[in-house]
Amino acid sequence: MKVFGLIGFPLSHSFSQKYFAKKFVTEGIQDTTYENFEIKHIDDLPALLESYPDLFGLNVTIPYKEEVKKYIDDLDYSARKVGDVNVIKVLPDRSLVGYNSDYYGFRTSLESWLGGKTASFNALVLGTGGASKAVKVVLEDCNINYRTVSRDGKKGDFTYFELIEDPDIVRDHTLIINTTPLGMYPHVNEAPQLPYDQLNDGYYLYDLIYNPEETLFLEKGKENGAIIKNGLEMLILQAEKSWEIWNQ
Ligand SMILES: NC(=O)c1ccc[n+]([C@@H]2O[C@H](COP(=O)([O-])OP(=O)(O)OC[C@H]3O[C@@H](n4cnc5c(N)ncnc54)[C@H](OP(=O)(O)O)[C@@H]3O)[C@@H](O)[C@H]2O)c1
Repeated sequence: MKVFGLIGFPLSHSFSQKYFAKKFVTEGIQDTTYENFEIKHIDDLPALLESYPDLFGLNVTIPYKEEVKKYIDDLDYSARKVGDVNVIKVLPDRSLVGYNSDYYGFRTSLESWLGGKTASFNALVLGTGGASKAVKVVLEDCNINYRTVSRDGKKGDFTYFELIEDPDIVRDHTLIINTTPLGMYPHVNEAPQLPYDQLNDGYYLYDLIYNPEETLFLEKGKENGAIIKNGLEMLILQAEKSWEIWNQ
């Protein structure tokens, strides 16, 4: 039996296990299982690897995406640039290679959504947390200039207050990416504070949130004519990238 799984803590609402269980059934993938490994400390990883000699790959989630790097032997480009590991491939000699599949998931979905026009955008990235790291590296690699927006003037280039006060900022940035958890179920009535009435059909709004399908951020953008996209495709692409990494 080939074993794959997810490490993190806590793991009560994991998307990955459900996703892979369904994939194995629908694609007739046999003798393969995907387990949740809720480990209390990252230093439990070596013992986990020892007790599962047929473990071929892991996903990594909060709070271990950075800490896990001390056990990784080699980092692929994505993990090195982003600074977080969310996929581990266990090689036949049991050494570990770290990847960041959010980088690949976001990049593929962004490029197909924007078509060949990526270089014509300036972007605003809302939020400066974990998810924003992969987004920023992808924007750099796609030659999209970006500025960050934070509640804290010291963490980002702009605050939300400055966006409301100075209409030039939003006018100059027609790609707006929400990497905050604002609007995520069950807090569906929340949205980042933006001058939404300034938006029009020249704007592209991407929300990393996938539940609900249309957050208030996207809804307000759409009302003003903006083109919108949620995080579902990124989520599926990053899961499929894990599978590709483990099986290549
Ligand atoms: N689609 C996908 O595949 C995918 C992948 C990864 C993550 N996500 C989604 O992306 C979202 C963010 O994930 P994360 O792990 O980066 O979350 P996080 O670390 O909790 O938050 C990200 C950032 O959002 C800002 N923020 C947090 N609470 C806020 C509030 N009440 N008001 C305004 N800003 C707030 C903060 O930045 P400042 O302190 O600078 O304001 C924070 O650093 C989640 O909804 C997650 O589900 C989706």
